[in-house]
Parts: sequence; C-alpha cells; structure tokens
Amino acid sequence: MDWTQGYASGTPYTSGHYREQSPSFLAYLCALHGYTPPDASAPFSYCELGFGRGLTLLVQAAAHPHAQFYGNDFNPGHVAEAQQLARAAQLDNVHLFEHDFATMAQAELGLPQFDFITLHGIYSWVNAENRQHLQRFIQRFLKPGGIVYISYNALPGWSGMAPLQHLFARYAEANPGPAERQVAGARQLLEALAEHDSAYFKDQPGAARRLASFNQTSVNYLVHEYLHPHWRAFYFDQVAAALGSAKLQFVTRASAATIYENLLFTPPQLAMLAGIADPILRETVRDYVLNIGFRGDVYMRGAVRMAPAAHLAWLKSFAVVAREVKPEQRYTTRVLGREMQGKREHFDAVYQALATGPQTLAALCSLPAFAHSAHVVPLQVMNLMIEGGHVLPVLPGWVADGSAAWRLNRAVAARAQTSDEWQYLASPYGSGVHSHLIERLVLHALLQGMAPSAAAIAPWVGQRLGELRAQIPGAGVAGEHQALVQSAVADVLNQSLPAWRRLHLLP
Ligand SMILES: C[S@@+](CC[C@H](N)C(=O)[O-])C[C@H]1O[C@@H](n2cnc3c(N)ncnc32)[C@H](O)[C@@H]1O
Repeated sequence: MDWTQGYASGTPYTSGHYREQSPSFLAYLCALHGYTPPDASAPFSYCELGFGRGLTLLVQAAAHPHAQFYGNDFNPGHVAEAQQLARAAQLDNVHLFEHDFATMAQAELGLPQFDFITLHGIYSWVNAENRQHLQRFIQRFLKPGGIVYISYNALPGWSGMAPLQHLFARYAEANPGPAERQVAGARQLLEALAEHDSAYFKDQPGAARRLASFNQTSVNYLVHEYLHPHWRAFYFDQVAAALGSAKLQFVTRASAATIYENLLFTPPQLAMLAGIADPILRETVRDYVLNIGFRGDVYMRGAVRMAPAAHLAWLKSFAVVAREVKPEQRYTTRVLGREMQGKREHFDAVYQALATGPQTLAALCSLPAFAHSAHVVPLQVMNLMIEGGHVLPVLPGWVADGSAAWRLNRAVAARAQTSDEWQYLASPYGSGVHSHLIERLVLHALLQGMAPSAAAIAPWVGQRLGELRAQIPGAGVAGEHQALVQSAVADVLNQSLPAWRRLHLLP
C-alpha cells in the first residue's frame, strides 16, 4: 500500500486550532471533576497524534514554553509547513515527526512518557488497523495520571448523515482522480438525488440541510471529512471500551459547562438518566437525548480523586482572564445545541472584576454579588464564560511567560499579509485566541512600528485586503471601501488591542 494507507492526502487539511487540546484546559477539566491533573504550570510533555497543519500544536507550545511538545503527521507537506512556522517563531520546544501511527506506536524513537496525548479529527477517519496503533501508542506512552483528549464522529447523531459520507467515499473509489474533483462529482450526484425526490433526503431533512451547507464549507475540509473509505462513527461506549483496554477511564466531555446537567436536560430526562446505574450506559444514553454527532472526550489513566478540601483549595486558586466579548454574547453560551444562560447581575459583576486583570475563584467569591452564594455560583459563571470563550482559564500557580507566544504571534501576524489561513494567536496564559484578518494585519502593522492610529494604519491594511481580495462586513471588495476599513481598524485599536494586552498577546 502507498504511504497514505487509504487516507485522502492529496489536499492539505484546514489550519484550525482546537482549544480542547490545550493542556491547561484539559488539566482544568480534570480538576473541575475532582481528579488530580498533571501540573501544567511545571515542565511536562505533550504529544499530538496527527497534527494536520500543526497550528494547535504550535500555539500550545508557544503558550506553554516550559513544556516539551511532540507530534506526528505522515503528510510531508503538513510537517514541512508546520516546521516552517515553528522555525519562524523560533520555538525550540517543538518536535515534529513525519512518521505514521504504526511507527509512532512500535518504533524506538526515544520518545518520553507523556502527561498529555491528544488526537483531534483522527479516530473516525483512519482504518481499524490505525485505530489499534493509536491505542497501542497511548498504552505505551501515556504516564500514569496522564490525560488523553480524543474526538470522533458519534452516533446516534450521525445516523441520518452517514449515507452522505458513504456515497462520497464510494464515488471517490469509483472515480479515481484529484480529490477536489471527486468532491465536486459526489456533490453533484447527491444534489441530483435531492432534486429528484429521493426518499432518503425526504426522510432525512437534516441530510438535505447538511448537503446545502457544503456551499459554505472549504473543499479541503470536505475532502478530509467525507472522502475516507474507512470513515466510521462510534457510540460513546464503543470508544470507552477500546480505550479501557489501554487502562483509560472516562472523565468528561471536553467542556466546562456540561457538568451543569440541569441546564442541559429537562427534569424528566434527568430523572431517567439518574435511574441508569452504569456510568458508561448513562453517558451513551445522554447522547441519545441530545442526538450527539460529534464527541470530544477527556480520559485519564489512573484518575486519582482529590480530597474534598484539596479540591476546593485547587478551584479557589484557579483564575480566569477576560477576552473581548461582543455585547450580544455576554450572557449566553451554546452547549451541545442548548443555550445556557446565567444571571446578568452575576455575569456583570465578574466582567467588572476582570477589567482589572485575572481573577481567582476566591477573589470572585468575595464580590458583593456573591455575598449570599456558595462558591458554586461564581464557579458556574466562570465555567459558562469559559465555555462561551468569553474568558480563558488560568491554572493555579501559573506564571505567564510571554516571549515564545510573542514570537509566534509575530510570525502568524506576518502571514496575514499573504493568507487568511493562520487565524490563532497564543496567549502566555496557556491558551489560543482566535483573531480575524484585519486584527492580524493591524497586529503586524503595530509590531512593525506603525503608530497606533487608524489614520496611520488603515491605508496599509486597505491595500493588503485589496491584494487578498478579502471581504469586510458590509462591503464588496474591501480595498474599495477605505472608510469601512478605517472604522474596522479603529475597532481593533479600541477593542481588540486592550484585550490583547490583558491576554499578553504582545510585548
Ligand atoms: C482530519 S485531519 C486532522 C488534523 C488535525 N488533528 C486537525 O484537527 O486539524 C487528519 C490528519 O491525520 C493525518 N493522518 C491520517 N492517517 C495517518 C497515519 N496513518 N499516520 C499519521 N498521520 C495520519 C492526516 O495527514 C491528517 O493531517
């Protein structure tokens, strides 16, 4: 077999960043659920299996410069591109391998034991043999007390959609050629099926909606999501059983908010779930209640419970730091298709405190708004804000060391001049931060020494946007709309820049 092992490798993947893979976030989730996490504020080792374009790994390496980050992807184009960015940012704590999963699992590569192993967008997309290699790697290289994050397409949510994937993959098999052409051909076939009153699309309106959504989806994503002949969706219990054989124990979904079950489920649903004694069956049934089609899960090997007093002390010294939040997003968080809301006065009290810098749970507990509450109330506000991306988690004992993050951010901002693909910056508080194209162009301009004024920066930004043929909201081709560009640059300087300073995204 060729090196691709049946994986559609002709087209590079999208360059995303997934905060669920952040060691700080994962350590927090385990601690939230009462388990002693690896100490992510001290030196640790981390491995990402199948890092794709590598942005998640590089952002995390820059955000945790005291730790060592390893990763593999068998696509040489992916590895070369990630190496270029790592070199541009002079990240010396990143070790990138072009090996396949079999080599990672079996060979003597001198790898250390890992505190964190993560794999996003891998498990459902490779064949059964490679899934075995992934399990074997985890079995061999995860430290006792270590954390695994794994995502996969899940059932029952995919049950109506799986036939779409099946036809994509079969069409590709029957029509060898460039992946982009296979995607286009398969889409035409599916659209013809939908137009010609096929009972499948009539009975599965969700599938028709999914098909229509492909107009807004990048071809690279469609290739990697739909074209694989070995693609498979799993029930939660199937993955839990497979990972159980590597001595892993399920901790939680990779979410700070799903712990609030009363906000996710109705009282009768809660009563039904409470009647299921087996925790694995109960978690599987939750997926039926919510019709879950994708899971990101956190497992530990040897999950050790903290004593209640130690747990409370850990949580009380845990902090959050504010991001920039749009007014319409301030009070709500969407979780697994459900809208979760907190009390406005509680959220406002926390936002106000965060304006002065990171706040621990202990500090929030002493705010007048929480005078009559137990710590669980401000903790819930923190968790809903974390989940909504309104704040970033900061682990106890964290010392924000910025130089690696600043070097990466400089390199990422410089790339905005030629492409909008690399969209995440690193915060030395241990997280990645999304940024839009104009933000990154402004950041580049500032780092190049331009005066922090919209009048000074906007003409240069307008020129770059024109070259990139980038749209800005409310305009056609951005380069023709200098006034809009100037107001967008002013917004970045007035709103994003203060938030970046709070998050130490720049010196
Ligand atoms: C869907 S992409 C996900 C990439 C990345 N984790 C992300 O979420 O952005 C799957 C990645 O796995 C890599 N891959 C697939 N099979 C592999 C194998 N057998 N060994 C190593 N890498 C593999 C592909 O090259 C691709 O980059």
